[in-house]
Amino acid sequence: MNFPEHLIGLRYLSKDNFEEIFTLTDYYLKTITGRKSVKKFSTGRSVLNLFFEDSTRTRISFELAEKKSGLDTVNFNSGSSSINKGESFLDTVKNIEAMKFDFIVVRHSVPGIPLFLSQNTSSKIINAGDGINEHPTQGLLDIYTLKKKFGEIKDLNVCIVGDISHSRVALSNIYGLKTLGANVSVCGPVSFIPRNIEGLGVKVYYDINDAVRENNVLNILRVQMERDAGSNMTSLKEFRRYYGINMDRLKQNKKIKILHPGPMNINVEIDSETAVSDNSLIFDQVTNGLSLKCALFNLMK
Ligand code: CP
Repeated sequence: MNFPEHLIGLRYLSKDNFEEIFTLTDYYLKTITGRKSVKKFSTGRSVLNLFFEDSTRTRISFELAEKKSGLDTVNFNSGSSSINKGESFLDTVKNIEAMKFDFIVVRHSVPGIPLFLSQNTSSKIINAGDGINEHPTQGLLDIYTLKKKFGEIKDLNVCIVGDISHSRVALSNIYGLKTLGANVSVCGPVSFIPRNIEGLGVKVYYDINDAVRENNVLNILRVQMERDAGSNMTSLKEFRRYYGINMDRLKQNKKIKILHPGPMNINVEIDSETAVSDNSLIFDQVTNGLSLKCALFNLMK
């Protein structure tokens, strides 16, 4: 099949692309959770993990998937790079291009940097999160986790809750879930809901209790203080009161499943008890993310 050369965003993937990656992820999940070794299909190829923003899950799971796949992995840490001596981003890119990496996995605060790299280097680019634009591997692992739990994505009611305005996870989930036929909604205070989001074919809830009652899944997003989310609301305490997910709220729909991409602001958007409850798929997301990245490298090789 025709998997794209670069993974820039889920808006560019077809239904067949999702099926292809999920089928291969099934294989890796079985292999990895069965503690069997992964076939090193990529020996001799190189990958640069180019992270200009902090990361725990994405970075570790990419590095582990690369090692399992046989890729030669190099990690770039912007904090200890020559950018600190005044080297420009463009010159950094030119030097990276001179080293001819097969893959670049990039995270950057500026939307569009992965697309720029795909047009200005000869490497295959994987977007590991670009500002408030997209986080396609997170979207893929979220949707894969739901497919494992519910069997089908079509007609599933999924509500993305919280700080939608500052979230790249929201957009990737919206594009991917809509492609696969889910009913997608968002819920949050007015200041966290982007204007015209209905144009993407999503419903908007302002009352979290309606969202809990009417959905199969809540994908709970972090309030992104580093992207100035704090200036858009009165207080975290108030956000927790009106939108925080806790076991009491979930009594209205006991079968509902909870996703969270992490890192969590515990006792802000989600309570600690809920994060580890039977409703939670949060650590399944992390397990699945590793297998999904192995599948991705295999499809893009
Ligand atoms: N979900 C996610 O991107 O987490 P990290 O920022 O820890 O990679």
